[in-house]
Amino acid sequence: MTMGPVWILSDSLRFLTPGRTEGADSSWGPDGLDRPVVGGLTVDTLNSSFDRTEKYKKRKTYMNILITGGAGFIGFHLSKALLDKGDTVTGIDNLNDYYDVELKKARLEILKKYDNFSFILMDIANRNAVKELFKNNEFNIVVNLAAQAGVRYSIDNPDAYVDSNLVGFANILEGCRHSMPDHLVYASSSSVYGANKKMPFSTDDNVDHPVSLYAATKKSNELMAHAYSHLYAIPVTGLRFFTVYGPWGRPDMAYFKFTKSILKGTPIDVYNHGKMKRDFTYIDDIVKGVIKIMGMPPVSDNTGDNLAAGKKAFKIYNIGNNMPVKLNYFIETLEKLIGKKAVKNMLPMQPGDVPATYADIDELQADTGFKPETSIEDGLERFVKWYRKFYG
Ligand SMILES: NC(=O)c1ccc[n+]([C@@H]2O[C@H](COP(=O)([O-])OP(=O)(O)OC[C@H]3O[C@@H](n4cnc5c(N)ncnc54)[C@H](O)[C@@H]3O)[C@@H](O)[C@H]2O)c1
Repeated sequence: MTMGPVWILSDSLRFLTPGRTEGADSSWGPDGLDRPVVGGLTVDTLNSSFDRTEKYKKRKTYMNILITGGAGFIGFHLSKALLDKGDTVTGIDNLNDYYDVELKKARLEILKKYDNFSFILMDIANRNAVKELFKNNEFNIVVNLAAQAGVRYSIDNPDAYVDSNLVGFANILEGCRHSMPDHLVYASSSSVYGANKKMPFSTDDNVDHPVSLYAATKKSNELMAHAYSHLYAIPVTGLRFFTVYGPWGRPDMAYFKFTKSILKGTPIDVYNHGKMKRDFTYIDDIVKGVIKIMGMPPVSDNTGDNLAAGKKAFKIYNIGNNMPVKLNYFIETLEKLIGKKAVKNMLPMQPGDVPATYADIDELQADTGFKPETSIEDGLERFVKWYRKFYG
């Protein structure tokens, strides 16, 4: 599949939030003398070919949203739902080849049909490019989903996690510090709970013992976000996602690999002899929850113990299904949907993996009314249907 030129920098989209002055705190240090490269083009080159000012002036009441990792699984679905609502979305992604780049491009093919969508090929670990992005755009809401995901991959590829999840996230925080969006929402992960035994996992539980570098970077993001919220009064919400699945999903995840292998008749690797439990959460439920949270920036707790800003507006939620499913049952459901038995290769636990995840979502439900509605049977049915259609 080929993709058209969607490398756009929407410099002309400037939305001012009530009570906020344009250019407030734009102290970027030495002004960007070196022009960042965005998708092989400089920002200037890109701007000259697009002027959407008039068109978007009319849409002032809508949100101008930055989604990092916009070509990714969750980023794609979230972008699409926001675009359908009429919001303006700028998606950025480095389109790395951790998994099939064609799938990422196919997601972008759908998004680029929307007039209110812009895409920038960009690495969040590129400090200058991120600076320039925030300097040239005024985002009401920033959703940071770009990250090196996956637990097992972090064993052999630690650098990817340091670059995207630590350096990249620090750059996004800096961008927010200088542009002050109404809300920064970022992806954390259920993996921060490590090998915790107490179930369900609650955001009140201690998460100081990650068992993979991936988990350590996600926990670090929460700490970094706390510091920035505390120091600069940025309203920040971290979301601990629990095994998100569904159409357009990630080929590195078990449900995707299982479907592919069962259809082909090749063996599947079943870790911990199928005794794993996962709180699988369907993508549409996640998207509904994230959109609710985006519209509810946490308010200051006014504890008075702060430094510069005198405020802290920081929140972390679990966002899961609240109903763990045994891996063996999961496989049986897939077998029924596909109409074929899996060839199982039973294996022990892998380093960095955890035996079970189970989200306590009471707080999220109380604050936002979030309610996952999709059963594992329905969710997998929709995934298998999509998979057959997409891969033929
Ligand atoms: N899907 C899940 O089950 C799950 C569970 C827990 C946490 N999360 C987190 O949610 C977020 C989204 O996950 P996803 O499942 O959509 O993953 P994904 O890999 O499909 O999406 C992430 C996207 O970010 C991009 N990206 C990675 N590093 C980047 C960088 N340095 N600069 C720019 N783009 C970069 C990738 O190309 C990819 O398109 C991630 O932060 C992930 O860690 C996901």
